Amino acid sequence: MRTTAVAVVMAMLCVMMVHADVKPQKDFNLQRFAGKWYRVGLAYDSPGFVPFRSKLKASMGIVTALPNGNVNLTMWELTPAGCVTKMYHYERTTVPGAFTYFSTRSNIVKDITVVETNYNEYAIVLKHKVFNREYTQVALYGRAQRVSNEIIQKYKAFALSRHLSRESILTPPPADNCPPSPTPAGR
Ligand SMILES: *[C@@H]1O[C@H](CO)[C@@H](O)[C@H](O)[C@H]1NC(C)=O
Repeated sequence: MRTTAVAVVMAMLCVMMVHADVKPQKDFNLQRFAGKWYRVGLAYDSPGFVPFRSKLKASMGIVTALPNGNVNLTMWELTPAGCVTKMYHYERTTVPGAFTYFSTRSNIVKDITVVETNYNEYAIVLKHKVFNREYTQVALYGRAQRVSNEIIQKYKAFALSRHLSRESILTPPPADNCPPSPTPAGR
């Protein structure tokens, strides 16, 4: 139990350090952020992800704001096995717009920062591992499957500022029939 508590405190300290240089959207409003999004951009430098770059599709996701300020995220992802649903649970931090996420797959805490959003068109989200910032992900979410060129440029500039390579900054095409139509109700 004690080690867990120490680990949690360390994780929190790291989150605080990380957030010292990237600030979330000012006056972040989770209610306005909730609802349907498409992940129209993904920048990810992990070498393990390189073979998947050309196969990536713009997944759809639904953000559910929970009463305690946490978030449930449901994503539909096209995989070789078909369209699969993945559920994620993001926990709030003391900073609005900053969340932590415990990855059961890699057994580590990741932090998620909604860096910039206007709620009705786009959101730029930064995700990285708390104990190892090497593989940062920047995602661009759009309320529609297409976003303006101006927004794409904003996302690219932000990803470059986080030291992601140009080749890793993707804008995948829409996922066909994933989720299978008719699309589940969004907001
Ligand atoms: C959020 O996700 C958890 C775990 O998957 C689930 O038990 C819970 O019912 C979800 N809550 C809402 C409001 O969707």
